[in-house]
Amino acid sequence: MCGIAGYVGPKNAVDIVFDQLKRLEYRGYDSAGVAYPENGHIAVVKRAGKLNELHKLLGEAPRYANQAIAHSRWATHGGPTDANAHPHYDAFERIAIIHNGIIENYLDLREELITKGHEFRSQTDTEVAAHVIGEEYAKGVPLEEAVRKAAQRLRGAFSIVVMSKEEKNKIVAVRNASPLVLGLGVGENMLASDIPALLPYTREVIIMDENTVATLTPEIVTIVDLDGREQAVTPMHVDWDVSAAERGGYDHFMLKEIHEQPQVIRQALAGRIDEKNRVRLDQTFSEHVWTEIDRVNIIACGTAYHAGLMGKHLFEKLLRLPTDVYHSSEFRYGDPVLSPKSLAIFVSQSGETADTLAALRLCKERRIRTLGVVNVIGSSIARECDRTIFTQAGPEISVASTKAYTAQVTVLNLLALYIAQVQEMPGVRVEDAVVELASLAEKAEACLQLEDQMITIAEELKNTPLCFFLGRGADAHVALEGALKLKEIAYIPTQESPAGEMKHGPLALVQPGVVAIFGSTDPDTRDKVVSNMQEVRARGGTILAIVTDDDTVVERVSDAVVRIPSSRFPFMSALLSIIPMQFLAYHIARLNGCEIDQPRNLAKSVTVE
Ligand code: F6R
Repeated sequence: MCGIAGYVGPKNAVDIVFDQLKRLEYRGYDSAGVAYPENGHIAVVKRAGKLNELHKLLGEAPRYANQAIAHSRWATHGGPTDANAHPHYDAFERIAIIHNGIIENYLDLREELITKGHEFRSQTDTEVAAHVIGEEYAKGVPLEEAVRKAAQRLRGAFSIVVMSKEEKNKIVAVRNASPLVLGLGVGENMLASDIPALLPYTREVIIMDENTVATLTPEIVTIVDLDGREQAVTPMHVDWDVSAAERGGYDHFMLKEIHEQPQVIRQALAGRIDEKNRVRLDQTFSEHVWTEIDRVNIIACGTAYHAGLMGKHLFEKLLRLPTDVYHSSEFRYGDPVLSPKSLAIFVSQSGETADTLAALRLCKERRIRTLGVVNVIGSSIARECDRTIFTQAGPEISVASTKAYTAQVTVLNLLALYIAQVQEMPGVRVEDAVVELASLAEKAEACLQLEDQMITIAEELKNTPLCFFLGRGADAHVALEGALKLKEIAYIPTQESPAGEMKHGPLALVQPGVVAIFGSTDPDTRDKVVSNMQEVRARGGTILAIVTDDDTVVERVSDAVVRIPSSRFPFMSALLSIIPMQFLAYHIARLNGCEIDQPRNLAKSVTVE
């Protein structure tokens, strides 16, 4: 996500925080800025675009300060403009702040502040947080207390760094969910959103715990919890090299991104669920549009297409809304029949995929309503769709998509619940489903604990000549995505289909040595899946089953069983089953010495047709 940097000490802080931002560049960003004290006020220099734009601006005057904070922004609330770039001032320009993450209740806070006469210069949730901290600070308390009090008024997943023009040589930081690391020096201290930014300056770091506030001066670092109680902290020595540090200590970006999925689910839901467990997606279309739509077409490529299939499953099961899913490349040349009341949804991580963009333009020519489900703000698909819901997954660097898929399915799930809510669908208990959806992040965390088991299984399966991925219903859709991961990074041939289709042809390929991975997370189809397993078993195939923790049936016909948390809505368990499949693909690829983050023949953003 966004990059944070801060320094307080004897050296030129402006140069240091700029260098720190450069070291975070690999994470992706679309604007950047710096704040430092100058002649009794705080100077803020910021600019949309890459760091060289900011560098030009900084080069226009000599800038020297012993403390500075800096930020590279990956847009979420408000486009990538100069005004939306961080740092942001409070209403009185006494403080400047930078921020990562999302303030969920920013709209309510913004309205409250506007009624008190506050004016805002940007569309960001960050500026709202700045004003809230500024209000607390205006009560005459020290900066750390103002930050601590303000943090209690903010909801969401965030980390915020603040400096005041009045309290020299002090930087205050609060961490809620987004990561923040403090770097300890001699006569100098610093902080950053990620370890690589700190490595040239120090190797002694403190990873801030959630819900803590740190105060940095050149000499000391103190940390308190949100009630002001001092926290004991033990610094950690980092001996990673810089490229390992960029991957957060993981061997590959893909592994890092797999591990980010619980956080990605939280981010995808952030600001979109209210206190009463109702869905807030009112920025999409006005309510009458949602009651008018008679058909949905979901258009996407690759992993995003697989996410679209999960969307279809939900829209039809939950909403009884006829939904088709198209590969973008087929849609474009397929002369699709489009109802004037239909909605076309374009799912894309990059927002630049050429076929998806071309399909979008075709829908626009035909005057069909268009909605993007996109990760990258400011991308072509996001800009050209009538409305866009951002998946808020943060930059995805590994070519093989993992966290983007989870975020896309989470957003489509949320959208289905929103439509059910607007349409007042009889029989759909939106609030119950929202509670279940909100618990998904925790369940995804439990799935991360399966990594060791998947390593053992990967060792056994790494030489398989052919791997089937099978399931029914939503499990059949996830099977497609599991298979894509294995073939694209481990180059193992796969055969994926609904489990019931096996006997209509693919079964001919089963013989000893062939592996079949069955997803079986839906109790309604469990017995049928068991029959399909027997068909494979009878022909000498090896069976790996991914089941929910309440299963007692499937395990009896499987060679190995992987258990994931059950959910009251089987669809959600099906989504979680992708995590062990991602681990399996990753570890087989690793054991076989494959180039994981950049698999052969593939590119991250496919901008050619
Ligand atoms: C597979 C993968 C691709 C993309 C596809 C669409 O791991 O990453 O299949 O999903 O190229 O890309 P976006 O989502 O950027 O439109």
